[in-house]
Amino acid sequence: MKQRTPGRVFIPLVMISIIGMIMMVTPVGFDRNPGFVGFIQDSWNHFKETFSDWVAIGILIIALIMLLIVNAINKVVESQKFKKLSPVQQEQYVVMSKQNYFSRLLRSSSERQSDEEEQAIILDHGFDGIKELDNALPQWWLALFYGGIVYCVVYLLAYGFTDFAKPYEEYEVDNARQQELVDIWIAENDISMEGAVNKYTDPQAIEEGKKTFEQLCATCHTANGAGGIGPNLTDDYWINKTQDSLFYNIYDIVYNGSPKNAQMRAFGQRGELTGLSIEKVASYVYYMNQELAPITESEGGAAPQGELIAEWSRGGAAAEAAPAAKTDSIK
Ligand code: HEC
Repeated sequence: MKQRTPGRVFIPLVMISIIGMIMMVTPVGFDRNPGFVGFIQDSWNHFKETFSDWVAIGILIIALIMLLIVNAINKVVESQKFKKLSPVQQEQYVVMSKQNYFSRLLRSSSERQSDEEEQAIILDHGFDGIKELDNALPQWWLALFYGGIVYCVVYLLAYGFTDFAKPYEEYEVDNARQQELVDIWIAENDISMEGAVNKYTDPQAIEEGKKTFEQLCATCHTANGAGGIGPNLTDDYWINKTQDSLFYNIYDIVYNGSPKNAQMRAFGQRGELTGLSIEKVASYVYYMNQELAPITESEGGAAPQGELIAEWSRGGAAAEAAPAAKTDSIK
């Protein structure tokens, strides 16, 4: 006769898995901490939040009572079976049951059964002369197997046919939380025009500025800045001059919009772009205007609009310092 798994072993194990399952289906609303220590803290907070609810505690109490009942029934079954054993077997059984459960478990994992035990479970097919050792599957294995099937069915029904997990709602909530963090970061780290630096020589800033330009500006200025609805940004003609230096002029127009034409909207004021993004996109426009060849009308560019501003023409700082020089030089 097999030894029974003692209640002090299986009751806590089952209770722990029930606690895990209840935690799994209980959403919580706190920000996760990073790293392994964060994982432990999160789990503890999750546990506390889950079991601050009386429904969860109620489920646990009912589960515990049922487990105690199952354990009691097992004991009765065990004593009934025990009575049917021969005196020798009874004695063996008592000796075995006095041994520590865990050392017994450890031993049984490496030991094969005795010859008598083997004789009892051997199946003789007869017709083919092949014998089969009909070992019972371990209880824990069966529990995992049937538990897996039940889990699979519940999961499929819950996620496939009901709005149990509310993924869209969860996404919105998470998104809002992330946006809050982004807003805080922007409030703490963003720059204004005074803090902006012309990064037209920094390849990474240019790359990022280019991305923003293609996403937000290309619709009106075309991807290469040659102009369409908005003016050609590659030539030396400018409609607006609100700042002394070209870079800050671009920054100003992108942040505050054009004072003359509302189509060029105030990307900064409207919160569409942060100061940091404007710094990069302005650097990119400056780069296009100063470092790349202008796109003339014959090449598909828009006709010049506004005034020719000689001190902003190609040649960069040197030209700005010495106006009217190198007006039409091309790099
Ligand atoms: C909806 C169309 C539109 C979009 C989108 C747009 N612009 Fe403009 N932009 C214009 C128009 C129109 C003007 C001309 C304004 C005026 O006449 O004062 C302009 C003017 C400008 C100027 C000043 C040019 C000058 O000659 O004074 C700059 C610099 C500029 N845009 C950069 C950008 C950047 C950078 C973006 C993207 C973040 C952008 N624009 C997005 C339409 C647009």
